[in-house]
Amino acid sequence: MPSPPLTLQTTTLWEYPSQHYGNSEQGSSTYKGATPSWVIWNLLQRYTKPGQVVLDPMCGSGTTCDVAEDTGRTCIAFDLQPTRKEIEAADARDLPLGEEVIDFVFIDPPYGKNLKYSGKPECIGELDARDQAYFDAMRVVFEESWRVLKPGGHLAVYVCDVWNRNLFVPIGSHFLFMLSQIFEVVDHISVVRHNKDLDKGNYHKAAEATNFYLRGFNHLLILRKPEDVETTPKKKLAKRTHGGQRGKPGAQNVQAKPKRRKPRGGRASDLL
Ligand SMILES: C[S@@+](CC[C@H](N)C(=O)[O-])C[C@H]1O[C@@H](n2cnc3c(N)ncnc32)[C@H](O)[C@@H]1O
Repeated sequence: MPSPPLTLQTTTLWEYPSQHYGNSEQGSSTYKGATPSWVIWNLLQRYTKPGQVVLDPMCGSGTTCDVAEDTGRTCIAFDLQPTRKEIEAADARDLPLGEEVIDFVFIDPPYGKNLKYSGKPECIGELDARDQAYFDAMRVVFEESWRVLKPGGHLAVYVCDVWNRNLFVPIGSHFLFMLSQIFEVVDHISVVRHNKDLDKGNYHKAAEATNFYLRGFNHLLILRKPEDVETTPKKKLAKRTHGGQRGKPGAQNVQAKPKRRKPRGGRASDLL
């Protein structure tokens, strides 16, 4: 059955009843962690023009490639583990691209270790979002996006917070703080998640019984590289960028190793 027609989202709360639009699928519905294609469609409509160059450095099943093709944009796609011919193997922290050649960057990174991807040591999905190493790795991805983006070009980052083993990591807020150090913040959108898997198990019961929340939305962070910049960021992203300094208020961050408490409520505590 075809999905409902696409229209531009006009508020900061985005919702659409399907992962894909039209009669076919964009990317692959069997790829764990694939981005809803209508999110990318909305971004390309707003922040690019036909013929412009879109980069997805963590392209997974190639959703961005398909949406770019549908909308007349050119897609340059990388992933550590390419799933199709349009995607080239590369680390998002070290792209084989010149400076300021891209009009728009879309990134849907691993949200810590929430899903298993290639298992390669360079895979950022091997890093726990509770550890500083995850944010350090993503900081380099953001700096690399900055390097390849043309001045005035936009970057969109689609990410979900994690609640794992009784610890909440507000990845979206940390990323926004990090990114705001070198990019202009254009907007911050909440995208409603329709995770049908959560209806199958006892997840909702567990969320009630053990007093946690299932993730109901993803953050969509929209940034812009200012027009009047030199090629290299003047200010590199600070090392500790994820929510306060150790020992100071707000230090309940991901760097300090949390005490491992036994999860209550079984596997539901491992949900996003
Ligand atoms: C959430 S998935 C992306 C999904 C994709 N947008 C789609 O619609 O299919 C995250 C991707 O990041 C890739 N990845 C992880 N670490 C990477 C790295 N260092 N460089 C490039 N890709 C990486 C993973 O292989 C995975 O495909």
